Amino acid sequence: MSKIDTRLNVSPVPPDEIFALNGAYAVDPHPQKVSLGVGVYRTDDGKPWPLPVVQKAEKELVVDDDLFRHEYTAIEGDVPFLGIARDLMFGFEGKQGEEEVKARIGTVQTVAGTGANHLGALFLAHHMKPPTVWLSNPSWANHQTIWELAGVPRKTYPYYHAATRSFDFEGMMSSLESEAQEGDVVLLHACAHNPTGLDPNKEQWVAIADLCERKKLFPFFDSAYQGFASGSVEEDAWAVRYFFNNKPDMEMCVAQSFSKNFGLYGQRVGAFHYCTNRASTSLRDVVVNNLCHLIRGEFSMGPRVGCSIVKKVLTSEELTADWHQDLQVMSSRIKTMRKALYSELVRLQTPGTWEHIIEQNGMFSYTGLTPKQVYALKDKYHIYLLKSGRASISGLSQKNVTYVAQAIDDVIRNEN
Ligand SMILES: Cc1ncc(COP(=O)(O)O)c(C=O)c1O
Repeated sequence: MSKIDTRLNVSPVPPDEIFALNGAYAVDPHPQKVSLGVGVYRTDDGKPWPLPVVQKAEKELVVDDDLFRHEYTAIEGDVPFLGIARDLMFGFEGKQGEEEVKARIGTVQTVAGTGANHLGALFLAHHMKPPTVWLSNPSWANHQTIWELAGVPRKTYPYYHAATRSFDFEGMMSSLESEAQEGDVVLLHACAHNPTGLDPNKEQWVAIADLCERKKLFPFFDSAYQGFASGSVEEDAWAVRYFFNNKPDMEMCVAQSFSKNFGLYGQRVGAFHYCTNRASTSLRDVVVNNLCHLIRGEFSMGPRVGCSIVKKVLTSEELTADWHQDLQVMSSRIKTMRKALYSELVRLQTPGTWEHIIEQNGMFSYTGLTPKQVYALKDKYHIYLLKSGRASISGLSQKNVTYVAQAIDDVIRNEN
């Protein structure tokens, strides 16, 4: 390539793997192609699923015909939405004494979960200057990018035990115990770990919280799948709520996304919560004030439509009940497809063990397929998944699961 005359000092950045894969899938004319790449919910017909409750809420919003619906909001976002998002995450139910506890949480609206992670990283980079952020190995690839852009040195803690395809709790604990320093940030997936689908159990979460407290580490929760993973918003928020309620002297934060649990992917609905320790409730306002400074300089305020939909649903008992049903529909279809893929592989006696597919949780399965097998699936069968072997289970259906299992069986048996 001839040298281009420019004032810029730029060199090509590798394309984002997920979006590149999606693009390749979109232009593949093969009739049996299967997309197991991007983490979006699909119906058994492989179609997007605007949640029925979201469609109801949209209709009600049209009827409301609110004159202010396209106006600017406050810099911190749509104020009623902020309280609703916080209560969903932390589980406040109008009990006595809650107001005092709520005062420990400063919330702002963000550009979905990515924006919440980004804003949080930027905020901590400016105002806490953590020596290191600890990311799980592996993690959602964007965590690396977000913290790199925030200029915080990154290290990883072991998370996945490849031989047993299980959560490496001992590896995680011993690495953080021996290497993490006071003031380091530890990034934790609140539930449905992306990409492994493996979460700590409750006892392990308690031990992680104790470790963070004892070593004075700062827990940063990324909650992208609340309610989507298990079908229960309580269950999927257990770790966040445990840390918050049982370690009141420990500051922490949460990046909350509404993309998956409301199917509002392109609407960019999210929130960032900073939890002060019990000694410093007044700190909260200064935190929010500084978050607003970052928001104002970057995007002024979060977008409006998606958060109006969430607000509509979560302020109505009837619509909230409908939403819980929709969460059940999505999480149970994913569990059903896990079982279907597992049963097919067992039926075919595909070499290897496959229990991990039914034991993992949430949108993804870390299949254990090698990059070579992943390429073979794409080249020979037009089945698309990440080269790490991560498969988005929602791309499976009753119609394609046999085809996918047979393809996996073939690429494993005929590898050499
Ligand atoms: C772990 C994790 N965090 C955050 C996100 C952000 O999602 P969004 O920005 O679409 O809300 C995702 C989406 O895939 C994710 O898997």
